[in-house]
Amino acid sequence: MRRFEGKVAIVTGAGSGIGQGIAKRLGCEGAKVIVDYVGSPDGAKETEDAIEKSGGEGKIVQADITRINDVECLVDTAWSQFGSADILVNNAGMEKKSDFWDTPESEYDQVMAVNLRGPFFLTQSFVRRLRDAKKTGRIINISSVHEDMAFPGFASYCTSKGGLRMLMRDLAVELGPLGITINNVAPGAIATPINKSLLEDKPKLDALLKNIPLGRLGTPEDVAGLVAFLASDDASYVTGSTFVIDGGLMRNYREQ
Ligand code: BGC
Repeated sequence: MRRFEGKVAIVTGAGSGIGQGIAKRLGCEGAKVIVDYVGSPDGAKETEDAIEKSGGEGKIVQADITRINDVECLVDTAWSQFGSADILVNNAGMEKKSDFWDTPESEYDQVMAVNLRGPFFLTQSFVRRLRDAKKTGRIINISSVHEDMAFPGFASYCTSKGGLRMLMRDLAVELGPLGITINNVAPGAIATPINKSLLEDKPKLDALLKNIPLGRLGTPEDVAGLVAFLASDDASYVTGSTFVIDGGLMRNYREQ
């Protein structure tokens, strides 16, 4: 199915993990994709190759969303290369583990800059161009179950994702009149590089798997399917919501 024929998508952090899965999915369904990356040129190339193999078009842009100039460059490249930017997927993210009382200022600043400040200003730049062109659009933020659920040892990450939840809710109201929808996708445990240390720690991984009713980690492709729905015409009346994709993890409180 080529649901996104004639559409242009920007996907941040598209050189690995969930972002790579999303970029490939939108691209193979016909979108022209701006493949943003910061530290993984080989991964970005792999994403672009996969899109082109499926008959689509991708354009790799190295842009650090924590820098305003880079953010503007991403949106400008979409318009200059492909004539529009209709879908924005704010996917790039990071997490740092530290006890709350030991979290250094630099670590807090970095996590907030990537997970919250970046999406804020990239969305602003994306919206300004659509507003000027009188076009509608779609914004999908890759949040986390931890926009809602505590994650001890990751207070900065929780703070950033909780902020992303309120940013999405506020913008649903502010952008609705422009015909721009915005929603969050909240993944649970997905097998990606962000989880590297967990994936390599068998006892920890087994304990986590016990808490997931569906009994497995999610994949980037699982998440990409939900994002593609939210970017599609089928979701044209959907805005202001978070869609959890976690194999049942959030609902599984039990006393052993
Ligand atoms: C985090 C992972 C974590 C998962 C489930 C995600 O947002 O990035 O590190 O395993 O949530 O707790």
